[in-house]
Amino acid sequence: MIGRRLFTISLLFSLCFYLSSALPLLAKGGPKPAPQPKAKTLEELAERYDSESCAECHEEIYDQWENSLHARSILGTGRTAPTILTAIDKGLKNFPFSGVKKDDDITVESLMFCAKCHLPQLDEATDDVAREIVATIRTWQKANKEGNDDLADEMEEKIESLNIGCMVCHNKVAIIHKWADGYPQPDTVYGSQEGEHDHPDFDKMAKAPAIGESIFCGQCHGLGPNFELDEPSQCATLYGSYLYAYIPDGGSESCQECHMKKSGLGHDMEAYRSENMRKMAIDVHVDSMAYYWRKNKEEGVIPLAVVKMEITNKAGHVIPDG
Ligand code: HEC
Ligand code: HEC
Ligand code: HEC
Ligand code: HEC
Ligand code: HEC
Repeated sequence: MIGRRLFTISLLFSLCFYLSSALPLLAKGGPKPAPQPKAKTLEELAERYDSESCAECHEEIYDQWENSLHARSILGTGRTAPTILTAIDKGLKNFPFSGVKKDDDITVESLMFCAKCHLPQLDEATDDVAREIVATIRTWQKANKEGNDDLADEMEEKIESLNIGCMVCHNKVAIIHKWADGYPQPDTVYGSQEGEHDHPDFDKMAKAPAIGESIFCGQCHGLGPNFELDEPSQCATLYGSYLYAYIPDGGSESCQECHMKKSGLGHDMEAYRSENMRKMAIDVHVDSMAYYWRKNKEEGVIPLAVVKMEITNKAGHVIPDG
């Protein structure tokens, strides 16, 4: 009975919390903008989200970002692009109801089971672009195999031009509660301040209420299986472990605090490839006790030791992930 009452109270609280966060006063976005015409080529999609024009004024941030895996979110460390092909060849083409039997059948919807997080802006492109991406990765792989370095480099550059750039985070996925806070507007960069912004295409700055919070990163860093897809995929699950293990255990830092501020890495969000992150990752305590054991007359006294090792994960989630 008490349990149920507590449950009702906490339900009321969370509802109030939800509604208060929904007050229109906090709205920083606006009405849902008319969709832009679909990008018809890979190049057009890359251009729409090109980060080059931000480099001039945000040089340090640009350089940090360029070193991160966000800047090559389809290529990855070189593993992601081939794994997308494996998912198509061993997954999509074998599933009887996927509608994909050959590369020509690939659509934006079928690639979304990876692109949802690796390239969310793919939903602004035609199915031809989805097929062009797959064809480009195949040509890149073939050129690599045949030692055709020039072609491989050219294809790699094309694959890298598709990424989680400035305007993916600071516009496309910047606002999470869109009914409450509004939809991102096409002429605005979203961050923590409001005002004019000296850019020909994005001449306004506005606040994205949750961009400084873990939920913002959680959009792509995974809760578990992606149940909202017709065919759930599961890749990153790290945000799930942050919410259900780190926070209940008393953890209080956000992704941004550890990855952007404490690490000193800013927009170069990294994992163990960075020395700073490796240092922040684990504590190792080793206690040892030496003793002697008198075994028997023949063998005499044998030196022995007990070694107690304790490894503590200091990251805000399971490691490794993905
Ligand atoms: C001509 C210079 C210029 C260019 C080009 C430019 N910015 Fe800015 N941007 C600024 C200035 C100046 C500010 C305000 C600086 C400050 O307060 O730190 C700013 C602020 C911002 C903010 C808000 C930061 C915060 O504190 O919340 C974001 C986000 C941003 N820019 C993103 C971009 C993106 C994305 C691009 C490329 C599409 C871009 N900017 C191109 C000059 C520029
Ligand atoms: C739009 C989706 C998206 C958002 C938002 C996003 N990420 Fe990522 N992130 C990715 C993807 C996809 C990769 C992996 C790219 C690859 O290697 O294929 C990645 C890679 C990373 C890595 C590197 C992992 C490694 O193995 O080295 C870190 C660290 C990271 N993200 C942290 C963050 C943090 C912190 C935030 C929030 C401030 C954030 N990300 C927001 C999609 C996103
Ligand atoms: C829920 C979002 C999400 C979906 C959907 C998703 N990924 Fe990922 N993936 C990530 C993030 C975030 C990372 C990097 C961080 C990590 O490893 O935790 C990652 C990492 C990877 C890596 C390792 C990166 C590297 O360079 O070593 C590969 C490979 C990969 N993804 C392939 C895929 C493929 C193929 C699909 C589709 C079948 C897919 N992912 C679907 C979010 C996702
Ligand atoms: C993976 C998502 C992501 C990408 C990609 C990204 N940003 Fe950010 N950016 C953030 C987050 C998160 C913050 C910090 C928000 C906070 O804590 O208030 C931030 C902060 C900023 C700020 C405010 C000043 C600062 O240093 O905190 C500027 C300016 C900015 N970003 C510009 C850019 C530009 C330019 C690019 C592309 C080169 C870019 N961002 C790419 C997520 C991203
Ligand atoms: C308490 C600090 C802390 C918090 C909070 C934190 N991280 Fe991490 N994270 C780390 C450290 C340290 C590592 C490096 C561990 C390693 O890879 O050796 C790491 C690694 C990662 C990786 C790479 C995992 C892998 O194995 O590929 C990703 C991706 C990541 N963090 C994203 C996030 C996101 C997203 C959040 C918020 C939901 C977050 N982190 C919160 C400290 C933190």
